[in-house]
Amino acid sequence: MSDLKTGQTEQAAADTPAPKKLFIKTYGCQMNVYDSERMAEALGGQGYVATEDMGDADMILLNTCHIRERAAEKVYHDLGRLRPLKDANPDLKIGVAGCVAQAEGQEIIRRQPMVDLVVGPQSYHRLPELEAKAGKGGKAIDTDFPQEDKFEHLAARPKARRAPAAFLTVQEGCDKFCAFCVVPYTRGAEVSRPVERVLSEARDLVERGVREITLLGQNVNAYHGLDANGRTRSLADLIWALNEVDGLERIRFTTSHPNDMTDDLIEAHGSCAKLMPYLHLPVQSGSDHILKRMNRSHTAESYLRVIERIRAARPDILLSGDFIVGFPEESEADFQATLDLIREVRFGQAYSFKYSTRPGTPAAERPLVDDAVAAERLARLQGLLTEQQRAIQDEMIGREVSVMFERKGRHEGQMVGKSEYLHAVHVGDNPAGVGEIRRVRITDSSSNSLRGILA
Ligand code: SAH
Ligand code: SF4
Ligand code: F3S
Repeated sequence: MSDLKTGQTEQAAADTPAPKKLFIKTYGCQMNVYDSERMAEALGGQGYVATEDMGDADMILLNTCHIRERAAEKVYHDLGRLRPLKDANPDLKIGVAGCVAQAEGQEIIRRQPMVDLVVGPQSYHRLPELEAKAGKGGKAIDTDFPQEDKFEHLAARPKARRAPAAFLTVQEGCDKFCAFCVVPYTRGAEVSRPVERVLSEARDLVERGVREITLLGQNVNAYHGLDANGRTRSLADLIWALNEVDGLERIRFTTSHPNDMTDDLIEAHGSCAKLMPYLHLPVQSGSDHILKRMNRSHTAESYLRVIERIRAARPDILLSGDFIVGFPEESEADFQATLDLIREVRFGQAYSFKYSTRPGTPAAERPLVDDAVAAERLARLQGLLTEQQRAIQDEMIGREVSVMFERKGRHEGQMVGKSEYLHAVHVGDNPAGVGEIRRVRITDSSSNSLRGILA
């Protein structure tokens, strides 16, 4: 969003009408972060510039997440809190974008009539038309899955300087239909962007100061984009092509599915210098019975074998995962199997959730595990994951890592960056500027970050 703020010279400001102000709040996953940037750019053409102050906005857009009940309810709660702003300024336009928009459409306006605009994740290239239609009593709703490619219909990204780490969506949607998950319904079928489009967006980002790109997809390793010759390319092929982009120093990707960890991708982890040694590979449960009921189409054993092959290719890789506890029918023995799997893998980082019923998904019909039991299991699971995370962080002490600096720290002269393993690292004494990459020796580990000195 800050892109839109720059580039407006005083001269230009004097000659043109006062810009309208846009405030975007982003919920949910990294893809929503990427989408919010692109939506801000699309509305830039309508004369909107970003504001950090909600009270000052002419348009407020909530880019929402539907993954768990609490995420969706938070959106309604936040909408309720916008009421006084709308009362004070009837011209204020309020829009709901993202996965709640897709899942609930019209229902949002029924529950919150002050909402002027509802736009699903596949239609945000149509925002300028929708924005023009919305407001003063007019409502604009678009939750289609249109034929046209939204990425190609979006305005070119402005040339303003960027922070050194950026997201780039290469794949969207999911065909896996896990029994608990709304994503196949909110994001639609798996679609991959063509290789050349990804490369040109990556080159553009690099020209604007980006040195690290995280490739995004709901199932990013199911990527199968066409190249210039009309051949289908894998995620590994795409990574190798990005490896050739001068000035791009680091490549990451997220989120992957265990069944799509192909040999070429595992091999790339061993041999592609720019591909960082970090992999987020959700498993959800360690119990084959539960995995089957989740429709995950892999077993605990097959997951462990994939991990084994990845570690053979890249022994120092840091592994991250997602877990759901309290899935319908989960017994204490099923839960113990999840703890066993966690002990066997050793995760450096993880996200864990209590199962949340999502209307319309197959699991929604099944009897729930008692809430107190699920909460207690979640606490035990998180205890183990935190222990592993701390142990792996502590093992970094005395080691040298490479840190890309992203921002100033809280203390004078301190800079904060990310290591190749995605650990946040704090370094004092003005070690480098934003975007620079330096070797750092780790000296300390605290709950969520590491501290170090230039090596
Ligand atoms: N595409 C990714 C991530 C999907 S959503 C993948 O397949 O791994 C991110 C995480 O949210 C999931 O991995 C899962 O752990 C969690 N999640 C999804 N639906 C959920 C639900 N109904 N209740 C609790 N957690 C859920
Ligand atoms: Fe959801 Fe499963 Fe698809 Fe991931 S693979 S987005 S958890 S349905
Ligand atoms: Fe949420 Fe949609 Fe992302 S449901 S996790 S914002 S794909």
